[in-house]
Amino acid sequence: MELKFYRCPHCGNIVVKPVDSGVNVVCCGAPMEELIPFLQEELREKHLPVVTWKDECTLHVEVGSTLHPMLENHHIAFICVEFENGYRFVGLKEQPIADICVCDSTPKAVYEYCNLHGLWKVEVPAR
Ligand SMILES: [Fe+2]
Repeated sequence: MELKFYRCPHCGNIVVKPVDSGVNVVCCGAPMEELIPFLQEELREKHLPVVTWKDECTLHVEVGSTLHPMLENHHIAFICVEFENGYRFVGLKEQPIADICVCDSTPKAVYEYCNLHGLWKVEVPAR
């Protein structure tokens, strides 16, 4: 299962298609746009997830080597862990930090989404 995110350019809705028939998803009367993970060097410090193993079954994720702000108009909306057989979304509150249980499958990648600077992805390091 390849994880793909789509965003409405009008209202900001984000969807994932667990099954992709190949037909565009429409929101606000227009096709949603596929989100491609960013790679911009100048934004990496505050956006690229820093992923470490807290223990055998828990990933510790911090968004940015310098923590990203969590303001109403500029924040990390979610972290998503991609597994061999699915994915898991984690909502955030005051800090862009999460401990995520990964006992039930092998995590492959961690994504985060900034409402202004888009989608970022990093591979999960070996245990
Ligand atoms: Fe940002």
